[in-house]
This record gives sequence, structure tokens and C-alpha cells, in this order.
Amino acid sequence: MAPGELAATAAPKAADMSIPSPAHDRLARRESAISALARLPASDILNDHEQAILAIEEARGLSPTPGPARWLVVIVKATRLCNLRCVYCRSWAEGPNQTMTFDVMARSVREALSMPNVHGVEFVWHGGEVTMLKPKVFRKFLWLQERYRQPGQEVKNSIQTNATHLTDEWIDFLHEFGMGVGVSIDGPPELNDRRRLDKDGRGTSSRIAGGIARLRQAGIPHAALVVIDREIIGAGPERLLGYLADIGLDKISFLNVLPENDPDDPEIVKSTYFTFPEYVRFLTDTFSVWWNSFRDRMEIREFRDFIQKMSVPKTSIGCLWMGNCMGRYVTLEANGDLAPCDKYRSDPGSILGNVMHSPMADIIRTSGYLADAKKEASDAKTRMAPCKWFHVCNGGCPHDRHLASRFGDAVEPGRCCGGAPLLDHMARTMGRTMERAGIRAGSSGLDNPAS
Ligand SMILES: C[S@@+](CC[C@H](N)C(=O)[O-])C[C@H]1O[C@@H](n2cnc3c(N)ncnc32)[C@H](O)[C@@H]1O
Ligand code: SF4
Ligand code: SF4
Repeated sequence: MAPGELAATAAPKAADMSIPSPAHDRLARRESAISALARLPASDILNDHEQAILAIEEARGLSPTPGPARWLVVIVKATRLCNLRCVYCRSWAEGPNQTMTFDVMARSVREALSMPNVHGVEFVWHGGEVTMLKPKVFRKFLWLQERYRQPGQEVKNSIQTNATHLTDEWIDFLHEFGMGVGVSIDGPPELNDRRRLDKDGRGTSSRIAGGIARLRQAGIPHAALVVIDREIIGAGPERLLGYLADIGLDKISFLNVLPENDPDDPEIVKSTYFTFPEYVRFLTDTFSVWWNSFRDRMEIREFRDFIQKMSVPKTSIGCLWMGNCMGRYVTLEANGDLAPCDKYRSDPGSILGNVMHSPMADIIRTSGYLADAKKEASDAKTRMAPCKWFHVCNGGCPHDRHLASRFGDAVEPGRCCGGAPLLDHMARTMGRTMERAGIRAGSSGLDNPAS
């Protein structure tokens, strides 16, 4: 995943409350639900054992080490258990100890929110499949957040789900707390049902479409994630976007499929590895179809982010184009292990430490793995800075560079992140439309550096 990138809709600011809208209703509902939850005494939300754990946790001193950045994203692997077996996925696990225990939950929420200098934390609930757990687990999570939140500190939550197990209880919970939901779906049934399979090997399209319909009926904001590989590309963008629009999805993001990081057989991994240039070609073809036929009814995150950054390069959006995600995006495993973003799963050395043994801020600040990754990012950015599109992509995702160097297919020996053909195409296409409409590129802010 790209992690914190999944939140479906930004929450409106309290200052905008004068204009009533579904988003404002949602914010008001969330604030009231959170305040009511925060007022509950521990005995109303925790069992005796959990209260005893909390007392021990709170008797422990906190590290004075400042956080890695003002804004931190924690991808919480609340459980690695999952009801599906998607063909490309290695994020699920089975057996004992796959679900976060209360001591890890209390420790990590307290540590993440108590770091000096951290003004906001986003918790992305991720798995495995979080809906395998009961919402009451996440109620405890939210209660802990309110207990440890520093004055003025912002806290966000979102979940990522396969949408096949959205029970009434889950729908009520997501509605009550106004939570954004990321839903995974790999396009129309003829594609999705070859890839997103349940434990018995059955396709999941109808169950996913049912889950999406329930979210829509309940007014819960949601965005879809589609994993892109050669099979999906084969279907063509018209079929892909057409189907997603037909089932009512209007916010989409495309993830390039990742190979195993620590393979048993490097040759098999290499044969299924999907290169970044292939992904960029897919986006380039899809952009034309989206621009001509879908742009008024569907938002595609990759295009939206690039268009925003072409206009205002300093816009801060998602992780992919920020250029310095390392230490700001961390994955928290059920046992308390801390890692960089989930894309690095199983990469040798990528477990940075364990929050049950060392303070979270200390782990992030002292990790040699992160220090090396930051140095790589800084060197890569220096190399790529002359690229005409650098102000938009900031060198791209470090994990994509990591893969490109592992498979020896870095674009223009490291001087371009690989996104330039897409950005050239986007600028040309949008420039032509503006020309036809009689708008000067400069006057719209969409200057075309490619021309
Ligand atoms: C690991 S899943 C966990 C959350 C939930 N079970 C779901 O499917 O949305 C998060 C996202 O990662 C995607 N994913 C899984 N394996 C992947 C891979 N090898 N490459 C790229 N994305 C992958 C999934 O399709 C999903 O969109
Ligand atoms: S539902 Fe999510 S975690 Fe489960 S196998 Fe599919 S992608 Fe992996
Ligand atoms: S490595 Fe960084 S930029 Fe790439 S997906 Fe992970 S957090 Fe985002």
C-alpha cells in the first residue's frame, strides 16, 4: 500500500461549519461520538485485565526523544488474519499471535501521541483484514487516542478493507465515527474473480459490490484501490474505468503490484515482476481515457495529485510524491514490531525494533536501516533534481527505486523516477484542451514545462 494514501475524503475544517453538507454532518457526528467515548471511565470500556495493563503502562516513563516529523502516519496491522487469499498478496497470515494484544495497542497509541513535536498522527487500520475483528476493539483504540492526545494534536483514522465482511455492526461503527474507508477491488468480475479469491477459491466481486453499496447507502466516504499488473492492463482502461463507474465508485487509486521481497526463488519473482515503466505506460494510456470520458465523474488519485502539484508544487499530498517518507510512515505489527511502510514487508533488516522493548521515537531516530534509506533518498533527489518534472514527483517512491535497483531496470540510470512520460503526456493533453477552450496555460497555473 501505499499507506496513509487510502483515506477516502478529507474532513472539512471546523471553520467551514456554516455551510451544511453531508461532510459537515459527518464531522459533527464524529465529534459528538468521540467526545462521548472520551468521557467514558476506563471501567466502561476495558475489562479488568486491560485496566491492570493500562495501570502498568501509565506507571512507565516516556522517552523525551522528539518525533521524526510534525505529522506521523502509523499503519496498524491490527490483525494479519484474513478471509481472502488474493493471488498476489503476502500480507495475510494465519495461526496464533496474528492479532494485536491490548498491551501493544496501549503502548503504541500512547507512544505515538506523546512524542514531543508531533502535531498530528494518522492511524491507518490495515491487515490482513481488520473487519475480521469486532468494532469494539477499535472503540478501545479510539478511546486510548483520546486519553493520550496532547492538547491541539490532530488524530485521524481510516481503514483499508476487502469490503466482503462489512457487517451491520461495522457499518454502524464507521458511520458513527465518520471514518474514511479504502476498499480493494481489481476491476470487473472477469478480472477481480481471478485474483481476489476467498479461502475456497471463489471470486469476490459480488460481495465487494455489495459492501460498496452498503457504504454508499450509509453515506460512508470510500475510495477504491486497484492492483495493477499485466492482466489488468490487458483488459484496457475503458473496461476498467467503465465498470468501476457502473458500481458507483468515484474515487480510485492504482497500485503497482509488488513482488516478494525475500523470495525463495528469485527467478520466479523476476518473471512476475512488473516494472515501473510498465506501470507508467498503464497510467499514461488510462489518463487519455479518463480525461476524455471520466474526468467529470471520477477522481483518480495519481492524476489528481500530479495535477495539483503541477499547479502548486508545494502542495502536500500523500506519501508517493513527498520525497521524504522514511520515518514519517511506519508499519506497526501485531506483536509491536515497527517497520517502514508495508511495501518493505520481509525485506531483510526492515524490522526497525519493537515498541514493547524500546520507545517508538528512539527506534525511528536511531534505526540504521532508516538512516541508510534516508541517505539513499537524499542522494537520489540530488541526482534527479535537474529533471524538468522533479518539482512534481520529488523523485517518487523510495520502494519503487529499491525494486528498480534490485532488478536492474532504473530509468535513465537514476536521473528520472520514471514518471516523466506520464507527466509529459498529461501536460500535453491538458494543454490542448485549454488551448481549444481559449485558456492560456499560464493563466490557469497549469504551465506546461514539457513544451
Ligand atoms: C494488504 S491489503 C490489507 C487490507 C485489506 N485486506 C484489503 O485487501 O484491502 C492492502 C492493499 O494492498 C494490496 N496488495 C496486496 N498485495 C499486493 C502486492 N503484492 N502488490 C501491490 N499491492 C498489494 C491489496 O490489494 C490492498 O489494496
Ligand atoms: S483481502 Fe487484503 S490482506 Fe487479504 S489476501 Fe486480499 S489483499 Fe491480502
Ligand atoms: S516507500 Fe514511502 S513513498 Fe513509497 S509507498 Fe511507502 S511510504 Fe509511500
